[in-house]
Amino acid sequence: MQKVRFVNPQKQYQDHKEEFIAAFDDVLSRGAIVMQNDLSDFEETFARFCGVKHAVGVNSGTSAIWLGLRAAGVKPGDEVLTVAHTFIATISEIYLVGATPTLLDVGNDYNMDPKLLEKALTPNTTAIEPVHLNGHLCDMEFIMDFAQRKGLLVIEDAAQALGASLRLADGSVKKAGSFGNAGCFSLYWAKALGGWGNNGVLVTNDDSVADKARFMRYNGEDRQTRKFYYHSHNLLMDNLHAALLNVKMKYFPRWLERRREIAALYHNGLRDVSPVQTPHFDDNRYTDIYTNYVIRAERRDELKKYLDDNGIETLVSWPSPTYSEPLFADPKLNSEYGGQPRLVSESGAINTLPNTEKICREVISLPLYPELSDEEAGHVVQTIKSFYSIETGET
Ligand SMILES: Cc1ncc(COP(=O)(O)O)c(C=O)c1O
Repeated sequence: MQKVRFVNPQKQYQDHKEEFIAAFDDVLSRGAIVMQNDLSDFEETFARFCGVKHAVGVNSGTSAIWLGLRAAGVKPGDEVLTVAHTFIATISEIYLVGATPTLLDVGNDYNMDPKLLEKALTPNTTAIEPVHLNGHLCDMEFIMDFAQRKGLLVIEDAAQALGASLRLADGSVKKAGSFGNAGCFSLYWAKALGGWGNNGVLVTNDDSVADKARFMRYNGEDRQTRKFYYHSHNLLMDNLHAALLNVKMKYFPRWLERRREIAALYHNGLRDVSPVQTPHFDDNRYTDIYTNYVIRAERRDELKKYLDDNGIETLVSWPSPTYSEPLFADPKLNSEYGGQPRLVSESGAINTLPNTEKICREVISLPLYPELSDEEAGHVVQTIKSFYSIETGET
């Protein structure tokens, strides 16, 4: 049986092994363990790639979100507008800075439905935390305009969207992370740009947010004067990780092209498979990076099992909404934080988000990474077709 991995870091390592080993050897031979040139070089390249002034390397996307909220100025007692259809870190970090999340329903692009912002606003709302899920940007033109009119901070959860862009009405093109007061990226190993371990980056155009983030990523210390200004954590990105990421950064633009090629193969192969909806939104203002290639599928759980049985690994992100996790379902568990999140949907229901729930029942992510071959992508398409008993031919 042909096996198709969901991700394949070993293949990437084999393809660039000499360069990774050389970077490793160079860093350890120099004894360059923390806060060295490899980190500052990486931050410079990363900032340039995102089209922002500053990048601050940290040890995970979760840390970048906490830092982004704190450095941008979200305070205890604040309400932050975000979504439930996301990884838990988006929401937990809001609680961990002492604020409370309000969870908006999502649209058909899996992202925050911006029409709900007005309805979600209260006098305590100070910030929006949009999540650019699956490598597709939120409607940032609308969100930024709303935030500016209402005087709200914007902290982008760009964990899944490094390199995704949007063409604005004035013709300019902006990338994920460059819209708000801070942008927060995950370089978790399975992301489009994954480190060899956990890594993350905060980006910003605001000098004061950058300074504060740099102090707060290392216990609140000004590394120049050795004075401490904030209570914080140790969130540093290790220099070795930065050196390994510098190797990957050289290939990253090419890897993004390859991700789009594979997405096109899936799109062409599956567009006539009526029980499946592919993630193409026919809006050429958006350039996606397909961190996940998510389809909506009838009989999703049966399809997943069929693909598993046929050696094809897939992922369901996520089978149930975050607000139904034990953490929220049992109010005792959440009571030491800022209380239960408020849910905001078009229907006005107080304990459910209808689109979020429906998406959780239907989504499944297919294997997609630069090292995946055309033949493997074709095999995934054929196997999905055979599940739905559709005549398979050339894809
Ligand atoms: C949308 C989103 N936010 C935040 C995170 C947290 O990033 P990390 O795993 O690097 O801490 C992730 C990673 O899975 C994510 O997908």
